[in-house]
Amino acid sequence: MESVTKTFGILTAGGDCPGLNAAIRGVCRAAYDRYRMNILGIANGYRGLIDGDVRSLHPEDFSGILTRGGTILGTSREKPFKTNDIGEDKVKAIKENYYKYKLDCLVVLGGNGTNTTGYLLSKEGLNILGLPKTIDNDIEGTERSFGFHSAMSICTDAIDRLHSIAQSHNRVMVIETMGHKAGWLALYSGIAGGGDVIIIPEIPYNIKAIGCHLKERAKTGKSFSIVVVAEGALSAEEAGMEKKERKRLRSEDGLPSAAYRVAGEIEKETGMETRATVLGHVQRGGIPSASDRLLATNFGTAAADLLARGAYGKMVAQSGYDIRAVDLSVPAGKVKLVPGDHHMLDTAQAVGTCLGV
Ligand code: F6P
Repeated sequence: MESVTKTFGILTAGGDCPGLNAAIRGVCRAAYDRYRMNILGIANGYRGLIDGDVRSLHPEDFSGILTRGGTILGTSREKPFKTNDIGEDKVKAIKENYYKYKLDCLVVLGGNGTNTTGYLLSKEGLNILGLPKTIDNDIEGTERSFGFHSAMSICTDAIDRLHSIAQSHNRVMVIETMGHKAGWLALYSGIAGGGDVIIIPEIPYNIKAIGCHLKERAKTGKSFSIVVVAEGALSAEEAGMEKKERKRLRSEDGLPSAAYRVAGEIEKETGMETRATVLGHVQRGGIPSASDRLLATNFGTAAADLLARGAYGKMVAQSGYDIRAVDLSVPAGKVKLVPGDHHMLDTAQAVGTCLGV
């Protein structure tokens, strides 16, 4: 089949995650081996397209990268539709470079922000294809994003390790995962790691309910507990406040993040010795899991097929066992939260985990 796309650019944007290189390899190998497309690698996300930091990619560039963490293209959190202090017209620069390099399509690998920008650029007349990556798994339109499985495994491993410390010291260990708005990572790793309490941003917590649960456990002889908390967790009182007010109160208490706030509240409520651990960027580092390698490769080769057909304005997505393409308007401007009736919430409660209420 002759490919509609002759030349495309590829970039990775937003926070890096395991599987980005596997996805780059998937797109480029299939685009080159099957369709002989010309490939231009764009450095550091949308910033590279604004600055014209573009280079040709050849098979040796995308060979041997399947298992490597990070991204060979570099990334940035550049948001072209946001004007900066110097009033740079970034969208104009992107469009100029898109035409200068004679791109038939721009392939963007990223999360909500990246795919939203992709959608807005497609409204500006550019051909765009998106691939969903993020450890947060919060992209609307796809069941999974690559990066999530690797991060979930890292978090679960950390919870396992902290379990033995909790047991030995008869302590409550509070473990913070990433996830500002969506609690997928905390919920899934929390269940996999046997968390006794899991707190996600979608369900504002009540410290009295958590205290009760921990005291009940202690009554049955379990003098230690594991509490998994997403970084965006908020209490029921905080949920009722304006964002500004919440920020002000938090800056007054001087605690660095959710795990420290929750640990302090638990200690006050129960008198139990409590420690906080923030997993931080460790969750995004290193080699991708086998599952993420498969998903990223699948997404990548599917994107090459869409390029060949000239089916632009889409994001590749997973639905059950299928890889499909959804319109870029589906993820644009949205965050996929854990729905209140999600089966994993019921599963957590069925094995005795408190969800903070
Ligand atoms: O990319 C998503 C994410 O991992 C969030 O879960 C987290 O809040 C954020 O990135 C951290 O961003 P940065 O690496 O810029 O500190």
